[in-house]
Amino acid sequence: MNDLALLLTPEGRALLDEVRDTAPADELAVATRLRRDHPAELVSAALGQARLRQRAVAKFGAADAGRMFFTPNGVEQSTRTSIAAYRAERFRNLGVTSVADLCCGIGGDAIAFARAGIRVLAVDRDPVTAAVARANAEVLGLGELIEVREADVTQVDTGGYDAVFVDPARRGGRSGGAARRGSPQAFGTGGRIFDPEAYSPPLSWAIEAARTAPSAALKVAPGIPHEAVPADAEAEWISDGGDVKEAVVWFGTEPGLVRATLLPGPRTLLGKGLPDPQVRPVGRYLYEPDGAVIRAHLVAEAAEQLDGGLIDPTIAYVTADDLRPTGYASAYEITDRLPFNVKKLKALLREREVGTLTVKKRGSAVEPEELRRKVKPQGPNAATVFLTRVAGAPAMLIGAPATPPAATAQP
Ligand SMILES: C[S@@+](CC[C@H](N)C(=O)[O-])C[C@H]1O[C@@H](n2cnc3c(N)ncnc32)[C@H](O)[C@@H]1O
Repeated sequence: MNDLALLLTPEGRALLDEVRDTAPADELAVATRLRRDHPAELVSAALGQARLRQRAVAKFGAADAGRMFFTPNGVEQSTRTSIAAYRAERFRNLGVTSVADLCCGIGGDAIAFARAGIRVLAVDRDPVTAAVARANAEVLGLGELIEVREADVTQVDTGGYDAVFVDPARRGGRSGGAARRGSPQAFGTGGRIFDPEAYSPPLSWAIEAARTAPSAALKVAPGIPHEAVPADAEAEWISDGGDVKEAVVWFGTEPGLVRATLLPGPRTLLGKGLPDPQVRPVGRYLYEPDGAVIRAHLVAEAAEQLDGGLIDPTIAYVTADDLRPTGYASAYEITDRLPFNVKKLKALLREREVGTLTVKKRGSAVEPEELRRKVKPQGPNAATVFLTRVAGAPAMLIGAPATPPAATAQP
């Protein structure tokens, strides 16, 4: 019996409950104790699964992660609930009622589709992964809406489904078959894959599969070159909590459209095809656009809302004279602007009694930790230093997060 089958037995489920909150440091002692009454294989499967569930909480939340089943690759590669739910909602708004989820993994996206009321054919060729996806559909009460099929997606007929969703394997891993297929250079030693043709299945296959359905979405790495997005598709970059997580190539929406979507929200900035913003002198405020805005090449659209310009033609920091509300960038009030010089920074921080220094950088090779070590911040105050380039020259901009007017309640 494999690990999953063992864990699905009544004894396995009971043991899983028992070891749920086991801390890594206690695992050995717990395992020794449990082996007195249970087979060693089951004990190690339960402890391994408990560890995976703990890791999955960040993506799936405690309630779902505590009930679902995972494989090590499955936890890593799955879509977090926030993004999967957002994408499912977009499909629903397109009128999609059934989707072929090609490369379903442990079911991160399939679950969100089903919860949006969409019927799902979930396909994965890895037997263990497919079995885990099936168990997850059952345990979450979504078995009626999710049919899991163990198959190679290139052999599956998706005719009859309103939409196709493909989330190809993008890492060389231990399971999932990806490592068997790619070139050694593309897959490295188990890391991320950068060449979309080295995905499993390759992006070109996914694009052709997408074009056969009325609607489609392909999840790709956020570093995908814009040129790789076909002209008949929309491209969307998604961040969650400020971290860029993925890009999605959509078919059946608006060809050529580019959007940046920020979660939670969602807040969506649409591309207008604006030229690069003008470079202008550093003003009172500096805006750091969200990573999704930068990856989507929509800094000009964000700058337009702020009536701002760039501090340098190659740097994605926007500067402006006014503090304006924006959902697409973080604002800082700049107090000092200096050419890059560690001694001067140290002197300035000492004078201001800055003990908490946040170092941000764009276009600078300086290591934040090394800088912090050198300037030895001390004192009760906080500041942010931006190591960057201003009009071509290495520069330091010092300031602090700008408080929106509504939040500056005076005592
Ligand atoms: C990135 S994961 C999918 C994650 C999933 N969307 C989720 O949220 O849980 C990619 C999956 O594709 C599967 N896969 C790769 N090539 C495949 C193929 N040709 N046919 C079927 N499955 C494939 C792998 O086994 C892996 O589980």
